[in-house]
Amino acid sequence: MLPPVATTIAETRARVAVARKAGRRIGFVPTMGALHAGHSALIRAARTECDYTVVSIFVNPTQFGPNEDYTRYPRTLDADRELCAAVGTDLIFAPASEEIYPSDSRTFVEVTGVQDVLCGASRAGHFRGVATVVLKLLNIVQPDVAYFGQKDAQQTVVIRRMVKDLDVPVTIHVHPTVREPDGLAMSSRNRYLDPTQRMHATALHRALKKVEESFARGERRVSVLEREMSAILTATPGARLDYARVVDAETLESIPSIERPALAAVALFFGGTRLIDNTLLAP
Ligand code: PAJ
Repeated sequence: MLPPVATTIAETRARVAVARKAGRRIGFVPTMGALHAGHSALIRAARTECDYTVVSIFVNPTQFGPNEDYTRYPRTLDADRELCAAVGTDLIFAPASEEIYPSDSRTFVEVTGVQDVLCGASRAGHFRGVATVVLKLLNIVQPDVAYFGQKDAQQTVVIRRMVKDLDVPVTIHVHPTVREPDGLAMSSRNRYLDPTQRMHATALHRALKKVEESFARGERRVSVLEREMSAILTATPGARLDYARVVDAETLESIPSIERPALAAVALFFGGTRLIDNTLLAP
């Protein structure tokens, strides 16, 4: 059976309230749709750990820059609904933009510092949009647990920080990155790649594997690890390097060497398509 689709905040609140009153634990998976196996894994985790699973599908305009892919971002609600039904979803919240951002709304959430590095450096305002919409969605659904993917590592850092700083009563669960058989992290944006770009897109995963190996052999110098990743990424035909960094996993601050858990994170452009990936390096 296809899950019901609520398009208003009021209907979503009413349906979730019924479930909560019945004592059900609410799990929530925020998405922008164009769902794939990465999203399914999050929904499945919610399904396993909670009793009522809400998936939001909302292509959030405030997290896209003026020259980014907001208008061409894939919108596939019917297929998304089928996927949600197959994995097991109790409610889909798919609002229109005006429902989330009435024309008189004035408030934004900024998570200073962590929002400005890595992806934030080349996507000004992106994490402000993410933090704002995620806080709004958490306030609308009021879940016990919200599920996010490690694929968007900086997003999880921003959200964890926001939830802590603003005392949002929710548990954040971060799920490992789901990959294609050749290692490419699943992403709604992979469908923008032509066959040649798709072939070369494995460079992100290869670069991360390389630093994992060096790290396992004992290399702790960040400059060396970053150079190894950059070498692989800049040698990739048709690609343009955005960043290849190793930073503190919690603060995303620059570090000279790895003494505490670190995040190796890469971003690579293929034409107008920007792909990201990351791995944790824990000493
Ligand atoms: P979206 O890109 O649709 O991703 C929704 C969730 O799925 C995010 O938590 C993301 O990290 C996770 N995800 C995507 N690909 C994944 C993969 N290969 N493996 C594991 N998890 C994966 O991220 C967003 O939407 C938005 O920024 C959102 C949080 C919904 C706010 O608008």
